[in-house]
Amino acid sequence: EFGTLRDARGRHKRKLRLSLTDRCNLQCLYCMPEHPKWLPREQILRRDELVRMVRLFVTELGIREIRLTGGEPLLRRDVVEIVSELDQLRGLGLERIAMTSNAVRLAPVAQALKGAGLDDLNISIDSITPERFNAMTRGQVAPVLQGISAARDAGISVKLNSVVIRGYNEDEVLPLVRWAYAENLSLRFIEFMPLDGRGFWTQEKVISEDEILREVATEFSVRRLPRTPEPAEYFLLGPKDVKGDGTFRLGVIPTISRPFCSTCDRVRLSATGELYSCLFSEKGRDLKTPLRAGADDAALMREIREHVWHKEAGYAARPQGYVERTVTMHRLGG
Ligand code: GTP
Ligand code: 5AD
Ligand code: SF4
Repeated sequence: EFGTLRDARGRHKRKLRLSLTDRCNLQCLYCMPEHPKWLPREQILRRDELVRMVRLFVTELGIREIRLTGGEPLLRRDVVEIVSELDQLRGLGLERIAMTSNAVRLAPVAQALKGAGLDDLNISIDSITPERFNAMTRGQVAPVLQGISAARDAGISVKLNSVVIRGYNEDEVLPLVRWAYAENLSLRFIEFMPLDGRGFWTQEKVISEDEILREVATEFSVRRLPRTPEPAEYFLLGPKDVKGDGTFRLGVIPTISRPFCSTCDRVRLSATGELYSCLFSEKGRDLKTPLRAGADDAALMREIREHVWHKEAGYAARPQGYVERTVTMHRLGG
């Protein structure tokens, strides 16, 4: 229909994930290849190109939320300008500007991002133990913790993401919950998906939602909340010895044990301007070439609509296993 974007299975797209760069200042096990090769700068969409694409998605295709990702989006020197130019699309239908970041460089720019119009931030943190954090990401946890505080101080709403991997951080589940509970931070655990950049994923390394909850229940009372269209399932946690439900909300994203493909409302634009209708797609649609060749809005919209229309049922529909793709996680932004 006019003004909306949907696929042949009736799924409407409301959210656009926009990767600003393939570069990253961390090297998370579950994301980066061991020897990443960064793309040449001229292949990355420029700010004016990004904004033109987003304007089209918002004004003509019904996209209501933008999530900026990377690599690490804060490595874009013009990230604040990007947010502030997107902010001008609010009158045209854009409702929310969000970002997913590793927060290493967040503290110095949190205030500026808020001023530019950033509404919320999802921050990856897989452990609060410095050595363990380093083993998973090759980085330091201290600046991330500072980034989290700075974002809260700036009034940006924050959610934490932790990918749990057997043999690496399953024993960090309880320490993370205790910490988030005490600090009243919203926390979501994520099942490890077969999309890392180095063929490291195995089914055996996946810590399922059930396993996470069993661990959490050794120390907290846990009550499952009704499922929403969001990827995350939520649980109310409280002290074990007190009657009734707790008040702390814990999230789990069970992509492997309970995929949410049937309600998927996202599309993705990679750093190089390829459109992906699914995180697990093997190939995207190149929009940068027509964009740079001077295609008009109508032509770009036809490309977008056509590509999205043919979105597959979901990766849940195919045999599970490691997914070899031409685009790795850090180029698509998770
Ligand atoms: P909000 O729901 O807006 O808070 O964002 P989000 O949870 O979609 O974004 P975030 O970047 O924090 O991603 C959290 C986890 O969900 C990551 O592991 C993503 O890779 C995963 N994820 C996000 N979108 C999709 C999707 O469309 N399909 C699948 N399978 N996983 C997704
Ligand atoms: N499985 C699950 N989540 C992943 N992320 C990156 N790679 C994977 C993976 N293989 C998450 C990061 C970040 C988000 C964008 O995607 O933790 O929070
Ligand atoms: Fe960088 Fe995020 Fe990938 Fe970690 S998950 S390597 S922080 S892009």
